[in-house]
Amino acid sequence: MELSRIFLFGCSALLLCTALAYGATSPPAPVAMSPNPAPAPAPAPAPAYVNLTYLLSVAGPFHTFLDYLESTKVIDTFQNKANNTDQGITIFVPKDKAFKGLKKPSLSNLSDDQLKSLILFHALPKFYSLADFNELSAKGPISTLAGAQYALNFTDDSGTVHLDSGWSKTEVTSAVHSTDPVAIYQVDKVLLPEAIFGTDIPPTPAPVPAPDISPAAAAAADSPSADSKESSFSPKSSPSTSSSERITNLGICRQLVLGVLAAGIVLFF
Ligand SMILES: *[C@@H]1O[C@H](CO)[C@@H](O)[C@H](O)[C@H]1NC(C)=O
Ligand SMILES: *[C@@H]1O[C@H](CO)[C@@H](O)[C@H](O)[C@H]1NC(C)=O
Ligand SMILES: *[C@@H]1O[C@H](CO)[C@@H](O)[C@H](O)[C@H]1NC(C)=O
Ligand SMILES: *[C@@H]1O[C@H](CO)[C@@H](O)[C@H](O)[C@H]1NC(C)=O
Repeated sequence: MELSRIFLFGCSALLLCTALAYGATSPPAPVAMSPNPAPAPAPAPAPAYVNLTYLLSVAGPFHTFLDYLESTKVIDTFQNKANNTDQGITIFVPKDKAFKGLKKPSLSNLSDDQLKSLILFHALPKFYSLADFNELSAKGPISTLAGAQYALNFTDDSGTVHLDSGWSKTEVTSAVHSTDPVAIYQVDKVLLPEAIFGTDIPPTPAPVPAPDISPAAAAAADSPSADSKESSFSPKSSPSTSSSERITNLGICRQLVLGVLAAGIVLFF
């Protein structure tokens, strides 16, 4: 009688514990381990309003690009596209460092219209996920928001998206935001259009010797792109940590209950 009561108590405690362990860490995505067929996560809600000014002010740093967006009023054009869920927008944002590194053709003597076109040149009038660039790269020059003569060439090199404006050859180093209708991708260089700077491009743009940069500084300058690439895809790793955490919780819990159960049996006899 007494023994079976202890077993009953132990078993229900074990069950309760299991349920608690599963419930304790609320996972961001539904986990296959879940025993009860929980209803699918709420059907994708209407995409929330994306405040570009806010997003660009907290990511990056993209302050220089944001300053240009505001001084040229292009921010209104971009935000208008971002609000339009039918088409959306894809923006390539250079980090502050890219503007600092810009020496050869300077932006300082551009007219207001040229500066506006240059900023508009950093966006496509449609939402493209990173996977879409594979298809886009076969289509030749793609018109930007600055107009048809302001085109960019894309190539997708096994998942890395390369951009070519003639003057600027760069690549997407991180996805800041990529949810239809708004895509914001970080790039390493300011995109300089041939329509402003001409087709007389200096021949050797690729190898930058940078003799005045110490190796440590060069390494530091190199790492952010790798870091940001990792951080932008980090959500992949979080589910595994949370599920392993859940498994350890469950293990500890089970051991506790089994210990109590064993103690009960020993006491009884
Ligand atoms: C967008 O964010 C900026 C900066 O945080 C803020 O000043 C502005 O009021 C926001 N706009 C809207 C429409 O919420
Ligand atoms: C975009 O939508 C927000 C929120 O609905 C609104 O406050 C803002 O004025 C809109 N901006 C533009 C440029 O359409
Ligand atoms: C800016 O100035 C440089 C010379 O300092 C000149 O070569 C270039 O054409 C100018 N650019 C524009 C857009 O006027
Ligand atoms: C884009 O590629 C085409 C060939 O597909 C080439 O003729 C053109 O010059 C390229 N444009 C730029 C800006 O690189």
